[in-house]
Amino acid sequence: METIQAENYEHHIRNAINTIVDSDFDKTLGELNAIHSITIDGNSVEVYLQLVPPLQWIAPTIDHACCEAVLSVSQELKPTVFVREKEVHRTGSKSVLPSVKNLIAIASGKGGVGKSTIAANIAAALAMKGASVGLLDADIYGPSAPTMFDLAGAQLEAEKLPDGRIIGQPNERYGVKVASIGFVMQRDQAAILRGPMLAGYFNTLVEQINWGKLDFLVFDLPPGTGDIQLTLTQRVPLTGAVIVTTPQEISLSDVRRSISMFARVNVEILGIVENMSYFTPPELPDKKYYIFGKGGGQVVADENNVPLLGEVPITLGTREGGDEGLPVVLNPEEFSQGEILRNITARLASQIRLANFRSGEQPVIQISL
Ligand SMILES: Nc1ncnc2c1ncn2[C@@H]1O[C@H](COP(=O)(O)OP(=O)(O)O)[C@@H](O)[C@H]1O
Ligand SMILES: [Mg+2]
Repeated sequence: METIQAENYEHHIRNAINTIVDSDFDKTLGELNAIHSITIDGNSVEVYLQLVPPLQWIAPTIDHACCEAVLSVSQELKPTVFVREKEVHRTGSKSVLPSVKNLIAIASGKGGVGKSTIAANIAAALAMKGASVGLLDADIYGPSAPTMFDLAGAQLEAEKLPDGRIIGQPNERYGVKVASIGFVMQRDQAAILRGPMLAGYFNTLVEQINWGKLDFLVFDLPPGTGDIQLTLTQRVPLTGAVIVTTPQEISLSDVRRSISMFARVNVEILGIVENMSYFTPPELPDKKYYIFGKGGGQVVADENNVPLLGEVPITLGTREGGDEGLPVVLNPEEFSQGEILRNITARLASQIRLANFRSGEQPVIQISL
């Protein structure tokens, strides 16, 4: 075997790293122009990369592959890899929630499909990966984040800033900053709230909460496709939306309406989550009972050419976790349900990277009507 001269290390390391494939894009690091710099000092090699965020899922894989690439040049070398976030030009309004990197709406055509359960678990799973996460529960019909995060009765602590603005502090639980319309309004108020008052509550939630810097803000939207949903969707500069559905036909027609609402306001659908897909009795672990029908999530995903992020079974622990204020992803006794939800979150992270990548490729065009 030909030995590589030390003065050629950088060239060979560069070539080896440039062939590594970023699986989210199916492109090589060379194609992605990911190498920022390489410094070599004796045997120690520092590789600086820049990749499209979020990085929490992809970085360990790339880090490992880069170390291997360096060692393939010489086993003597001691590699260290630093992966930095490439800057992303967020689409939509720059003034709303400027310190939030990725805004993800969780939506459904109708209530009761598990939208809040999925939102809570995705938020908790993102936080488990070390990301800074907020959960904004804007479901006026059934604010459930307070219950699902064991914050029932919590209030939004308000603070007056020197410039006179009032700003609320979100409550933090399990590494997730939670703010809910439930903290600012009474449970049975939804039916009587209309127009300007409702708009006032939404303003409070969107603009007057001190989220600080966030990697992700998960936005639990009210179900349906009415004016409220449309207004909220337009107000907030969303990275994209996740649609939650149950498998059966009736719920699917609502889902189609929901998807066309997002299409109308140019919000990308990041994927579909099918919830309550099947039930496996604990004593019959090989059985799957398709209580609410089968395969609807896949049908909707195929129709719209978006990924099915996953199928979440019905488990007792999921329901109990919701009622008791411990998202099931955090419950070690519900490991397999947790894994399903964590995998959904990882797939979502890949879709967010793709959305961020695309928004970097296209010039941002402002259309005023
Ligand atoms: N996969 C699941 N397994 C068991 N119970 C679930 C599951 N998903 C949701 N639930 C329960 O169903 C009810 C409705 O869920 P929720 O998330 O509040 O729906 P939505 O926000 O769409 O109205 C809650 O009691 C919740 O705990
Ligand atoms: Mg809900």
